[in-house]
Amino acid sequence: MEEAILSARVKGIQPSPSVAARALVSSLKSKGHEIIGLTVGEPDFGTPMHVVEAAIVGATSGKTRYTAGAGIEELRSAIVDKFDRENGIKSDLNTVTVGTGAKQIIFNALAATVNPGDEVLIPAPYWVSYPDIVKLYGGIPVVLTGDPDHDFKITGDDVRRAITPRTKWLLLNTPTNPTGAVYTRQELQDIAEALRPYPDILIMTDEIYEHFTFDGRTHVSLASLDDEIASRCLTVNGVSKAFAMTGWRLGYATGPAQIIGAINKVTSQSTTCASSISQVAAVAALNGSREFVEAMVEVFERRRGRAWTQLNAIPGIECAKAEGAFYLFPNIMKLLGCSAPNGKDIESDVALAEYLAEEAGVATIAGTSFGMPGYLRCSLAIEEKKLDEACARIARACHRLS
Ligand SMILES: Cc1ncc(COP(=O)(O)O)c(C=O)c1O
Repeated sequence: MEEAILSARVKGIQPSPSVAARALVSSLKSKGHEIIGLTVGEPDFGTPMHVVEAAIVGATSGKTRYTAGAGIEELRSAIVDKFDRENGIKSDLNTVTVGTGAKQIIFNALAATVNPGDEVLIPAPYWVSYPDIVKLYGGIPVVLTGDPDHDFKITGDDVRRAITPRTKWLLLNTPTNPTGAVYTRQELQDIAEALRPYPDILIMTDEIYEHFTFDGRTHVSLASLDDEIASRCLTVNGVSKAFAMTGWRLGYATGPAQIIGAINKVTSQSTTCASSISQVAAVAALNGSREFVEAMVEVFERRRGRAWTQLNAIPGIECAKAEGAFYLFPNIMKLLGCSAPNGKDIESDVALAEYLAEEAGVATIAGTSFGMPGYLRCSLAIEEKKLDEACARIARACHRLS
């Protein structure tokens, strides 16, 4: 088909690398390759049974029709309670909304606000989708890189340096995918102070990994700092990670009424509403106990410790101890410039990821996809035995480099 058929908008963006990585692992497995996928961005747990049962009751009792675009009232009410109880954020039924995943809320929020030429500040390494969504709407992703020795966390000064008259949003993700960095209250306050003189700049905080914090850390929501910051902050979350519900496609957010209203307008003209059955399930998830997520986070913390120790024992790999989320993001720069046994040069993180997939049967995602060349993202969403085996294979493959 003619290339001309595609819009300039779509030609200007890349397909999601994490979705592509998942497809690659499935395709290699279907061809009989014995591959361990460390590419997964979803918990390897089943959705809690009380949530599934609530969905079944919903489906069999007629909760099968279109709903209000902003979501059913029971769910919005559960979201209001959740933000109050867990995040210290005040909202009401009109300032929360529901979408087909956090991703769609981010997408709709940017669709609703970004004009061509508007700048969106995005700390790197970033979740793969942010810059491309900004570009879809003609916005300009402005990438901020924090100190690698401080988990790449950005500071107030980084924000001050990046602000221009075109700055529309700061997009912050804590706990962070892919580094696992968790912003402390003080670090958030520092960023908030940098934004204080610019009341027109909006702030989006993607808190989808909020429960995944390690070593006693706790997640802090930027919008809980004070009323002024809350008045321009869109807090985005969802049930995908916390309740192992990625396939249910259910996200939610709270923010200024004007932004929420604009998101709802985009929803009304695109997906109409999130799945009615997933909404019923999400009510059970949000109103239910935290036992499931707490047990899951314990497992991830243990895996983080094991994989971190094993990766750091490999000469050429330096791995920070993720503070949260469920990824490790090892620095592999010392391996660049090496040669594989077949003579191929490992000139980049992309080449190393390819080498590990082909030679070791371990799929990872190159840091380049997250705006940070020289690193690999390794997901911890895989059972311990396989994770150990993956680390052992990476070690053997790295030893074969010369
Ligand atoms: C940082 C971040 N935000 C949002 C999402 C998407 O979440 P959802 O499944 O709710 O669309 C992901 C999924 O990987 C993510 O890593």
